[in-house]
Amino acid sequence: MRLNVKSKFSDYNIIIENGILASAGKLIVEMLDNKHLSVRKMFIVTDSNVDKIYGDTLKSNLEDVGFDVFKYVINPGEDTKNILTLAGIYSEMVEVGITRSDMIVTLGGGVVGDLAGFAAATYLRGIEYIQIPTTLLAQVDSSVGGKTAIDLPQGKNLVGSFYSPSLVIIDSEVLKTLDNRNLTNGMAEVIKYALIKDRSLFEMLTEITSREQLLDSLDEIIYMCCSIKKEIVQKDEFDRGDRMLLNFGHTLGHAIEAHYKFKKYLHGEAVAIGMSRITECAYKNKMVDEKILIEVRSIMKHYGLPISDEVKNKELLGYISKDKKNFGEDLNLIIVDKIGHGKIIKAKTDFFVE
Ligand SMILES: NC(=O)c1ccc[n+]([C@@H]2O[C@H](COP(=O)([O-])OP(=O)(O)OC[C@H]3O[C@@H](n4cnc5c(N)ncnc54)[C@H](O)[C@@H]3O)[C@@H](O)[C@H]2O)c1
Repeated sequence: MRLNVKSKFSDYNIIIENGILASAGKLIVEMLDNKHLSVRKMFIVTDSNVDKIYGDTLKSNLEDVGFDVFKYVINPGEDTKNILTLAGIYSEMVEVGITRSDMIVTLGGGVVGDLAGFAAATYLRGIEYIQIPTTLLAQVDSSVGGKTAIDLPQGKNLVGSFYSPSLVIIDSEVLKTLDNRNLTNGMAEVIKYALIKDRSLFEMLTEITSREQLLDSLDEIIYMCCSIKKEIVQKDEFDRGDRMLLNFGHTLGHAIEAHYKFKKYLHGEAVAIGMSRITECAYKNKMVDEKILIEVRSIMKHYGLPISDEVKNKELLGYISKDKKNFGEDLNLIIVDKIGHGKIIKAKTDFFVE
């Protein structure tokens, strides 16, 4: 399955297929031919967990089609998404002679994608890069929208840029080695797409009852999610309008993550609580029926995602008013008033009644 994403700066394809990692070299050559580009060196950035399982396969696959391949392995985890690791990547690229006409290949979850994507955006004022996301979260979320970033000690994603890859290769087969917690974490974003935009995806999700059945359905699910994000992002590339819909559950989710200093929950888990809680507030503010609240909570539980936490909404208000999506006095919030339909509302902090 292929999707073409149009961004202000470039068009690129997302190719989604089970087992496609083994054809990465061929797909990259095809893309380069179409763009009349000639590339000699490929600089793979990956983390040590992913490297152990897929690093050598990718490296030899790229060598087989004639590239000079270098691999740079970083430590796994969010703590690595910082300026020191970035500096290490730049140094190694200089060391091995990466020029403007060479490319970065990111192989890993959102941490590797964001970090190496930002390295591509900035090294020699920008070189092309290919994304091979290996977590469900990265496949359905990071692969569309061109957001790259690193964290600062003061907060997450504080330095970055919008910089689209030249190609995204999504192999759902690699998700078989992902642990349950990270798979479920990605499911929170999948559920978000279903709730804000696609009732048929929601229904499909309710019918899945095992990890095996989920893994078998993921090609189609990932395609549906990337299509939804593509439609939304193409209308609002720089995140000023409709793209806010993608923020469903995120205002509270980010606040919960920050409240626990990013230690208690993974991003998707916090967003799941955020989606449940904001729907509860919308219900209490008489904006949605109780049926919606029940459906939202039950799909989260179906996938083993949390729906509540002991922290009170009022303890989160400080974080909420600092959220990047809020401008001026009113808060921009997303609610789901029908399954498959999200909408942007303006509200004051008293919306968050307990
Ligand atoms: N750019 C965007 O649009 C965007 C969107 C969402 C999230 N993000 C960013 O993504 C990051 C989170 O990404 P994540 O959840 O993918 O976390 P992650 O990159 O830390 O990966 C999670 C864990 O899974 C391991 N892993 C990855 N793929 C694997 C595989 N196939 N098999 C076995 N293990 C594997 C990793 O080594 C890591 O330990 C955050 O920094 C977030 O800000 C960016």
